[in-house]
Amino acid sequence: MKIAMVGSGYVGLVSGACFADFGHDVVCIDKDEKKIAALENGVMPIYEPGLDALVETNVKAGRLSFTTDLAEGIDGADAIFIAVGTPSRRGDGHADLTFVYAVAKEIGATLRNDAVVVTKSTVPVGTGDEVERILADAKLDVRTAVVSNPEFLREGAAIGDFKRPDRIVIGTDDEFGRDVMSEVYRPLYLNQSPILFTSRRSAELIKYAANAFLATKITFINEMADLCEKVGANVQDVSRGIGMDNRIGAKFLHAGPGYGGSCFPKDTLALLKTAEDYESPTRIVEAVVKVNDSRKRAMGRKVLDALGGADKARGKKVALLGLTFKPNTDDMRDSPAIAVAQTLTDAGVEVAAFDPEGMEQARPLMPEVTMVDGPYEAIEGADAVAIVTEWDAFRALDLKRIKDLAKAPVLVDLRNIYDPQDVRDAGFTYASIGRG
Ligand code: UGA
Repeated sequence: MKIAMVGSGYVGLVSGACFADFGHDVVCIDKDEKKIAALENGVMPIYEPGLDALVETNVKAGRLSFTTDLAEGIDGADAIFIAVGTPSRRGDGHADLTFVYAVAKEIGATLRNDAVVVTKSTVPVGTGDEVERILADAKLDVRTAVVSNPEFLREGAAIGDFKRPDRIVIGTDDEFGRDVMSEVYRPLYLNQSPILFTSRRSAELIKYAANAFLATKITFINEMADLCEKVGANVQDVSRGIGMDNRIGAKFLHAGPGYGGSCFPKDTLALLKTAEDYESPTRIVEAVVKVNDSRKRAMGRKVLDALGGADKARGKKVALLGLTFKPNTDDMRDSPAIAVAQTLTDAGVEVAAFDPEGMEQARPLMPEVTMVDGPYEAIEGADAVAIVTEWDAFRALDLKRIKDLAKAPVLVDLRNIYDPQDVRDAGFTYASIGRG
């Protein structure tokens, strides 16, 4: 099969490299000349474990190539995936579909062979209908079908998620669309990954419903964590205790500083907008968005409490460990660390921060924070150490060294990666999430 992937960002690049690895012939297309030039030289535009090696292998095998020229890239393709960004539209939170429709128009203007056009970008219900209209307006004399095929991969675990998905969702009522997509996913199907065929609109909604549900699960356990602190219970035990019920499931029940990233915040907002437009309010999701937003600054206040309260914090120093919205990515989008740092600097606290991959992205987002080269550099002279992202590098910090370097042995663990007893036994004042 020949596959064209329009948009070489997270989803496009990972999906393209993985499809090539399955043996398909893949061209990744992007308008960004710098990005394409870098990719041709083996330089990845994002940090994702294993991606560089996967790209290199498949480029060498002649199955993966890159171009900025859409017409050339889609020439002869059986399936053309649209995997461009759908950011929140400024001002109203709707998904901005400008890039999706621009690509659809360009496909309409240049397509010369039968092909299935697949939206992999996260797009609101009805976007496939509009893409279909755009292609119809182009009056092509070739056969096309527009299919929705949402992607469920997580940053940091993207390749594994793509190659061993819990399910593949394909939304189409068109036989041609179904046949081509079955071929595209045949290697995974043979691997026994379940494929759900459904209508295009259902597939579009499945993506939003999945992300909103996961965001709800996280927010639910975060509120339980707050309650645990008040009643003297342990949220990790509560999480285990409910997660062992198969109907609930253990995943996405880790309490923390609130969800961030490029997907949950944007997709929950976009779902609210769709619900509003169709006059079918989703009040649970509305609450989730509000609770999660306020949680991020509350986490900053938690660090201030560890310093003895906001009024005593001015002039003190905090070491922030971990800035990205989760480990194994350099992505800073909507990271709780931004609000935590802001709350601290607003209170006159001096902040020194370290992140294994995210510093470059973080710098412009937190201009008042001093970025340093390692965790212990940040800790030197600090009145408190706050772990915001659970990078492996922070899981076994040398507590004795911290005690020697810091001004005060205070640890605020916003990811619960330490055992409270161990840290307290080492002579620390320790605060974590939901372990009262
Ligand atoms: C999420 C979904 O998990 C993917 O299935 C989906 O494909 C992707 O969005 C997308 O729509 O593209 P991602 O944003 O990469 O993936 O990251 P997650 O691992 O889901 O984490 C999101 C946030 O939730 C992070 O800030 C993380 O720290 C937080 N989280 C996650 C928790 O606080 N607790 C948990 O138990 C799990």
